[in-house]
Amino acid sequence: MMRILSGVQPSGKLHIGNYFGMMKPCIELQNSGEAFIFIADYHALTSLPKPNELRQRVLDVAIDLLACGLDPEKATLFRQTDIPEVTELTWILSCFTPKGLMERCHSYKDKVAKGLEANLGLFTYPVLMASDILIYRSNIVPVGKDQKQHLEVTRDIATRFNNAYGDILVMPEPQIKEEVSVVPGIDGEKMSKSYDNTIPLFVSEKKLLKLVRKIKTNSLEPGEPKDPDSCTLFQIHSAFASAEESQAMRQRYAEGIGWGEAKDSLFEYLNAHLREPRERYLALMEDPGYIEDVLKKGAERARAEAAPLMDRLRQSVGLGRFA
Ligand code: ADP
Ligand code: TRP
Repeated sequence: MMRILSGVQPSGKLHIGNYFGMMKPCIELQNSGEAFIFIADYHALTSLPKPNELRQRVLDVAIDLLACGLDPEKATLFRQTDIPEVTELTWILSCFTPKGLMERCHSYKDKVAKGLEANLGLFTYPVLMASDILIYRSNIVPVGKDQKQHLEVTRDIATRFNNAYGDILVMPEPQIKEEVSVVPGIDGEKMSKSYDNTIPLFVSEKKLLKLVRKIKTNSLEPGEPKDPDSCTLFQIHSAFASAEESQAMRQRYAEGIGWGEAKDSLFEYLNAHLREPRERYLALMEDPGYIEDVLKKGAERARAEAAPLMDRLRQSVGLGRFA
């Protein structure tokens, strides 16, 4: 069975855009192979968030994944920092990584171009990512385009290592998601935390209705035919809807649906789809002990993979026991 690995950055409260761009594809991995999904808290530390904030975000992302349908029986869900072997491998791999390779990485160059002083954690971020991937012998790593270079770096480092010590590391195949459709926010721009235009996935019904009512539309009157493709309401609906449902909605636009009715209809639709995950979310919020338990069991499984490989790697490079 193919091992599929994905790392999720704990980046705050989930909105509908994050859900479609990142969460849903990640959860679907549990049906296509042996999925290992981890919360990248070491990576998150590179931007030095406040301690309580970081801990809360890790808990939030675990709750989000479970509320949205991740099944811990099917997928192995764990916290990156629960596997200490990962940092040990990072060190070994960093000895195989030319400094120039890191200097060419966009993630680091972009920060420097913005005038930020990059710390060494950020500079060597791709080596930690290579370690995440290689330590679980991952076969497939689905990532967005922005992470493509990190996969190339991973393969480069693995090749250097294998050339020196024999074929020990499994060469991972990237699976690049080319077109992820962008979900617009209530102002019609890309939905993003930084634009303050989001519809969070887990808000109360009341708040959801309020946000949907705020979505920007044009000034066409009821009865006038409307263009669905330039309409934010329609695009948000389409993100959830089946092809038939979208087609039926197109028909209503052609028939001149009024904006008030379109908004009510979107609200009803979203609310029906979000009710169940919201209930799971609220229940999980009350039970951090359960979340800790899931992560602990996941870490045990992940570590059972990482530890024997690490033993072998130590021996290969000439570290570790004499007998
Ligand atoms: P934000 O823009 O709200 O800060 P992030 O940059 O933290 O979101 O994105 C986290 C993940 O969610 C990324 O994988 C990104 O591709 C996805 N994502 C964010 N916003 C959207 C959106 N509006 N539509 C689709 N995917 C999105
Ligand atoms: N860097 C990835 C991101 O920002 C998260 C990540 C860390 C990851 N380690 C990984 C993704 C290993 C895939 C495999 O989204």
